[in-house]
Amino acid sequence: MRAYDIIAKKRDGGELTAEEIRFFIHSFAKGDAVTEDQAAAWAMAVFLQGMTAAETAALTEAMVTSGETIDLSPIPGVKVDKHSTGGVGDTTTLILAPLVAAMGIPMAKMSGRGLGHTGGTLDKLESIPGLSIDMSREDFLAQVRSIGVAVAGQTADLVPADKKLYALRDVTATVESIPLIASSVMSKKLAAGADAILLDVKVGCGAFMKNIDDARELARAMVAIGQRLGRRTAALLTAMEQPLGNAVGNALEVAEAAAILANRDDCGFGPLSTDLREVTVELAARLAWMAGKADTVEAGLDLAEQTLLSGAALDRFRRFVEAQGGDSRVVDEPERLLPQAAIRRPLFAAQAGIVTALDAMAVGRAAALLGAGRTRKADPVDPAVGVVLHRRIGDAVEAGDKLAEIFANDDRWQGAAQALGDAYTIGRGDRHEREGWAKPPLILGEVY
Ligand code: URA
Ligand code: CA
Repeated sequence: MRAYDIIAKKRDGGELTAEEIRFFIHSFAKGDAVTEDQAAAWAMAVFLQGMTAAETAALTEAMVTSGETIDLSPIPGVKVDKHSTGGVGDTTTLILAPLVAAMGIPMAKMSGRGLGHTGGTLDKLESIPGLSIDMSREDFLAQVRSIGVAVAGQTADLVPADKKLYALRDVTATVESIPLIASSVMSKKLAAGADAILLDVKVGCGAFMKNIDDARELARAMVAIGQRLGRRTAALLTAMEQPLGNAVGNALEVAEAAAILANRDDCGFGPLSTDLREVTVELAARLAWMAGKADTVEAGLDLAEQTLLSGAALDRFRRFVEAQGGDSRVVDEPERLLPQAAIRRPLFAAQAGIVTALDAMAVGRAAALLGAGRTRKADPVDPAVGVVLHRRIGDAVEAGDKLAEIFANDDRWQGAAQALGDAYTIGRGDRHEREGWAKPPLILGEVY
């Protein structure tokens, strides 16, 4: 087999065999019979010609087998995983993982760090004093066995082909290809070993997929891969026009998650909104159904609600934080125990009206300006900084009302205030407009 022939076949619109794809990906990962130039040409051919479902599954399998995989079979029960395609203020994992664990569903989560507007789940968790996400494989599995949940950093030996291919796509304008994105995401999920995988595909101006058609196409491609490769896989399409939840920033999102788990209506740094809780409960219901803990999604919704309201999910969060070396008292005293920003600056409404748009990407930019996110992989994040929203789409405001609050550690708050002000669009808000303005839906579709 020759790399040249495989590239030419794809260039001319042919369908590659599983053997050809495996040869190409494994050789590229090892750095022998396929060079960087050849992989770049191949990625562009795939970008332009697309891939069939069979090719996409074969590509995913080849990526998975390029490295180590995690065997979760010693842990009893249906092990689940959730993946978000990424949005602004997406705090769901911090709530969902202890929630489903408390429902008797083990979640062994390999997470990533954030690149871009806010931190990833690992960055958020590390804002909890003492908490570590560096654990041996043995400790990781033992923790999932004993308390049903662990969150660790993704190790370098998992899917090395994806790391190499992603770096190459990044500089060759070949990131935005459905088969390449779908196989990249799914290879990491499959290697992490869960039996059931739920994808949260974000749709909107703050997401990778800006419109519902593209999001559905990506969701279908990922679900098809999972099902072809023998895992229960489903996807929810959820809204990402405005940030999810009011908190955007690492420690702020930990406080937000803890407050939702504790059934409070304030996170210590500002008010909570209902959307983050709602999306998390919808995700938990699907996982309960996929794991066989609920016969229907409706029964799953009831189970998730009860588990939250009973305090069982909060209790599991405390045990999880302690198991990973963290101080679980952050739940009770977030303002004292989480990292504190030196500067707080409110943003006030200049006029009365109704919030008709709240651009998630602009809020994300404001948080990033403050240091909540990173632009290069090696950059640190500032755990304390970020934004807490006080008004959201559909809310009526009076002139002088607090729209949001900025948490900063230096004078970058000024640029952030500008970006945050630009994120809000306040309509004139006469009575007719106020009454006619519906809150946007959160769940936009699902794929099974
Ligand atoms: N996220 C990934 O993990 N891979 C992609 O290709 C795109 C987004
Ligand atoms: Ca949030």
